[in-house]
Amino acid sequence: MNKLYYGDCLTIIMQDIERESVDLIYLDPPFNSNRDYNAIYKDETGRPLPDQIAAFSDLWELDQDRERAIKQMPVLMSEAGLDDDVAQFLKIWMNALRKTQPRLLAYLSYMAERLLQMRGVLKPTGSIYLHCDPTASHYIKVMMDCIFGHENFLNEIVWNYGKYTNAANHFQRNHDILLLYCKKKNSHCFNKQFTEGAESTKIDYLRGYRRHRPKGIPQLLVYDKEKAVDAVRKAELDGCKIVYREGKTKVALSDVWQLPIIGSTSKERLGYATQKPLALIERIIQASSDEGDVVFDPFCGCATTIEAAHKLNRRWIGIDIAIHAIKRVAKIRLEDRLGLKEGIDFIIEGVPHTLEGARDLWKRDKYHFQKWAVEQIDGFVTSRKTGDGGIDGRLYFDRGGNNLESMILEVKGGQNINISVIRDIRGAMEREGVPMAGLIVMDALSDRKAANFQMEMAAAGDLDHRGVPYPRMQMLTVPDILEGKRFSTPSIARGRGEAQPNLL
Ligand SMILES: C[S@@+](CC[C@H](N)C(=O)[O-])C[C@H]1O[C@@H](n2cnc3c(N)ncnc32)[C@H](O)[C@@H]1O
Repeated sequence: MNKLYYGDCLTIIMQDIERESVDLIYLDPPFNSNRDYNAIYKDETGRPLPDQIAAFSDLWELDQDRERAIKQMPVLMSEAGLDDDVAQFLKIWMNALRKTQPRLLAYLSYMAERLLQMRGVLKPTGSIYLHCDPTASHYIKVMMDCIFGHENFLNEIVWNYGKYTNAANHFQRNHDILLLYCKKKNSHCFNKQFTEGAESTKIDYLRGYRRHRPKGIPQLLVYDKEKAVDAVRKAELDGCKIVYREGKTKVALSDVWQLPIIGSTSKERLGYATQKPLALIERIIQASSDEGDVVFDPFCGCATTIEAAHKLNRRWIGIDIAIHAIKRVAKIRLEDRLGLKEGIDFIIEGVPHTLEGARDLWKRDKYHFQKWAVEQIDGFVTSRKTGDGGIDGRLYFDRGGNNLESMILEVKGGQNINISVIRDIRGAMEREGVPMAGLIVMDALSDRKAANFQMEMAAAGDLDHRGVPYPRMQMLTVPDILEGKRFSTPSIARGRGEAQPNLL
């Protein structure tokens, strides 16, 4: 069955994707752009909400996790069957980057871990396209050569997207790079693609195209007799065989692709930062897979690859670490645009539906548990990491004044919470100048503890709106949330997905 996963592609590939089961991988990971991509949500009236959801982060640091991954790299490489010399080279290369470009090293080690796993799930007949840009493409190419083998490199595709900015002291940056590798040379699927091509290229082509035959007489392919008169004369003198293919005007597609980026008024636009055009991905899928094949996008964002794969009758798997990408944007895209039904045409894995699932998510990834809990009750995530001392989210409501008001949200997934949590939240309400606060806990508290918590929360009083009292401090458990209970506020301003990159 077609699947969307919520989570880190590293863990999911290792735990859930069968080895050598995928025909085509397209990945469009963070590019080392050194910025955060935030999704700006608008309330019902179209006003932007003051906080933004961090869609995903593209900021890199050599933290403890990265250092651990770098240390493990030689073992991972030998497990993946990489040649010892290649593994040694990568090790020296990465160490050299430690002093000069530590952030780049953090990024590359993150990518290397994941690419090694991707190689494992690719069929021997499969191919992989890595989408990146010149910020790190040359470094990634070296790494891909090591992991997939230089002999399996097929193309460096330049996607010229024609977006003009106003660069003052260098040429306009106007392209991305796609690195294409096959798993095993000459065994891969490749369906030649054709294009009308630029007029100048086409005219050259139509003047006659010389083809060298390693074991035979060289040929001149003639597509237009009139235009090829001179070439035919010369070829006959050189002893070439003339092969006529009249009527054919399309030329084989080169490795420079001119396709427009999704414009601000395009119908395709979903508002997901970094959304790629369908035409780009359709071309990739058509070239490197056949109907019924499995297409896999480990960084699927708003599911462009999934839509393209589905339209072209391929099976598909998508993963994204941002819950709102999977639960909101991708799900809506599949259901509204393609008319697919969750549970019948595809399944979503990794989003908790039970208390057990929520506990599991908490154990695996505390920050994602917080995000899930906040988004589940229509809140907006505000903290970047778990335990960063800030509040975890906000729920916005509108009492008819000029400004939206908010309830701050605190999520506690652990078992050992005590009354000091309530006092801390009251402190945060005062500090933030907000009228309401909500606490989400994993399990129901013992009767005694619950009574103490309720007493302490009741001391904060009620917010009166048009004669209706709303408790200023409220608490929900995960089972409450799963049953559909929500915090009680005057009205809730829900998000709509208008997203933009937010340059830091
Ligand atoms: C450049 S965007 C992909 C955009 C996508 N091609 C589209 O057209 O919508 C990169 C995506 O990778 C996701 N991501 C980042 N790290 C990830 C990880 N470790 N595992 C899975 N997804 C990840 C981000 O949440 C983001 O949606």
